[in-house]
Amino acid sequence: MAPITLVKVALMVVIITTSTVDGFNVRSVRTKEKETKMVFYMQDWESGKNVTAVPVAGKNGTNSSVLNFATIVAVDDAITEGLDRRSKQIGRAQGIYVNSALDASDLHLLFSIVFTNEKYNGSTIEIQGADRFFLKQREVSVVSGTGYFRFAQGFAVLETVYLDLANLNAVIKFNVTIHHY
Ligand SMILES: *[C@@H]1O[C@H](CO)[C@@H](O)[C@H](O)[C@H]1NC(C)=O
Ligand SMILES: *[C@@H]1O[C@H](CO)[C@@H](O)[C@H](O)[C@H]1NC(C)=O
Ligand SMILES: *[C@@H]1O[C@H](CO)[C@@H](O)[C@H](O)[C@H]1NC(C)=O
Ligand SMILES: *[C@@H]1O[C@H](CO)[C@@H](O)[C@H](O)[C@H]1NC(C)=O
Ligand SMILES: *[C@@H]1O[C@H](CO)[C@@H](O)[C@H](O)[C@H]1NC(C)=O
Repeated sequence: MAPITLVKVALMVVIITTSTVDGFNVRSVRTKEKETKMVFYMQDWESGKNVTAVPVAGKNGTNSSVLNFATIVAVDDAITEGLDRRSKQIGRAQGIYVNSALDASDLHLLFSIVFTNEKYNGSTIEIQGADRFFLKQREVSVVSGTGYFRFAQGFAVLETVYLDLANLNAVIKFNVTIHHY
C-alpha cells in the first residue's frame, strides 16, 4: 500500500499592499503559496461490522437508500493510507452526503477530512462537490481548510476502488491537490 504522498512546491509570491479603507486596517501580506498533493482512501461502510455511514433522512425516513434521490447520509468514515480497511488510519471523513440528482446519479459531498496523523493532526480540509459516482473518475472541490491547510483551495480526483453495491459498502480513492500558505 502506498504511503501518503506529499509534494510541497513554492509556487509564487503573493504581495498585497497596505491601505486604510473606511477605518479598516488592511494588512500587507507577502507570503509563499505551497502545494500539497496526497492520496488517501475513504472507507464508506453502510453495513456489516463497524458501520460508519448511516442514512438519516429521505423519502422513506431513516430506511431510505443512498441510491434514491433525496437521501441524506451522515458519515464518520475512516481515512486510510491504503485501500485495505485495516491499513493505517490518518484521519476521518466527517459530515454528510446527499443524493441530489433526480435520476439518483449524484452524491453531493459535504464533509471535513479531519487529519489525525502526526504531521497534520487536528488540521482539516473541506470537501464539497458533485460525486457522479457512476463515472470511473470524477472531481470534487477542496473549498477551504484549517490548521496546516489554512486558506486551502484545490481539488480531489475520486475513484471507486472497491464497491459492494448489494451491501452499500465502498472504498473511494482521493487524489488531492491543494494550494495553501
Ligand atoms: C471493528 O472494530 C473493532 C473495534 O475497533 C475491531 O476490533 C474490528 O477489527 C473491526 N472490524 C472490522 C471489520 O473493521
Ligand atoms: C424500516 O425498516 C424496518 C426493517 O426493515 C421496518 O421494521 C420499519 O418499519 C421501517 N420503518 C419505516 C419508517 O418504514
Ligand atoms: C421507499 O420504500 C419503498 C418500499 O420499500 C421502495 O419501493 C422505495 O424505493 C423507497 N423509496 C425511497 C425514496 O427510498
Ligand atoms: C493528536 O492530537 C491529540 C490531541 O490534540 C492527541 O491526543 C493525539 O495523541 C495526537 N496524535 C498524534 C498522532 O500526534
Ligand atoms: C494523482 O494525480 C496525479 C495528477 O494530478 C498523478 O500524476 C498521480 O499519478 C496520481 N496518483 C495516484 C496514486 O493515482
